[in-house]
Amino acid sequence: MEKEFEGKTALVTGGSRGIGRAVCLDLAQSGAKVAVNFTLNASAAEKTVEMIRNQGGEAFAVRADVSRPVEVQSMVSQVEETHGPVNLLVTSAGIVRRESHETLTYEIWKEIMEVNMDGTFLPVMALKDGMLERGFGRIVCIASIAGLRPRPNNIAYSASKAGVIGFVRSCSEALAPKIRINCLAPGLIETEMISTLDPEKRKAMIQATPIPRTGTPKEMSNVVHFLLSEKASFVTGQTYVADGGRVTLP
Ligand SMILES: NC(=O)c1ccc[n+]([C@@H]2O[C@H](COP(=O)([O-])OP(=O)(O)OC[C@H]3O[C@@H](n4cnc5c(N)ncnc54)[C@H](OP(=O)(O)O)[C@@H]3O)[C@@H](O)[C@H]2O)c1
Repeated sequence: MEKEFEGKTALVTGGSRGIGRAVCLDLAQSGAKVAVNFTLNASAAEKTVEMIRNQGGEAFAVRADVSRPVEVQSMVSQVEETHGPVNLLVTSAGIVRRESHETLTYEIWKEIMEVNMDGTFLPVMALKDGMLERGFGRIVCIASIAGLRPRPNNIAYSASKAGVIGFVRSCSEALAPKIRINCLAPGLIETEMISTLDPEKRKAMIQATPIPRTGTPKEMSNVVHFLLSEKASFVTGQTYVADGGRVTLP
């Protein structure tokens, strides 16, 4: 039986770890050739590639800092020259710095904006023309519930994720119908990103979640899979929240 993403090439930014790794594993299992992007952690990217190959899939690691235009362009050229046109893009690369308004500096603000916003903008812009020419593209950008509700101790991160949501909404109209582009807004997900969270804060966040636990990367890749698939054929420009119900709370 043909697998759902057979014959497709996928690029997953931040595919070396966390949610991005789960997305890589899922897409490869569904038949896609997967380019696993990383920036610093080559061994984590190789681990993702190894996990995919062990399950019989096809994958390769590709280094690029997604906040750098030249590196993103060169990553896209490298992937497309070797493995063919990219049909599926997932932007999962991201960073968080939890700063209060007293400690937030312009440098930290810039760094977060560059990785989270430029790092979404650049891969989408590098791939959209090819997708439009070929008449097919499916994109999911990982935002956060921080982009949908106030985060007083996470102002820059929240602003960057709200920016991603706005970017996707406008792109969806500009690029339809050939390209569908949506956001996933995760809640608290068990990855290295939340390992530095204050234990008391973490406990309070879980207690405030109707499904009172952290989510798993696999639960996120399930939603990404749906949004990339033809089961979501009439869905574009949307932000799909997967947070155990927390965003709905006051
Ligand atoms: N975990 C959560 O609770 C949560 C909640 C809401 C939203 N999110 C969002 O989900 C996405 C994935 O988060 P995660 O939890 O999986 O994080 P993670 O485990 O910390 O992994 C971050 C990934 O981003 C990559 N990355 C960071 N900066 C990069 C850059 N400049 N260029 C290319 N790659 C870069 C890392 O690559 P290296 O391995 O090379 O460092 C790594 O693959 C992020 O956008 C995050 O904001 C996460």
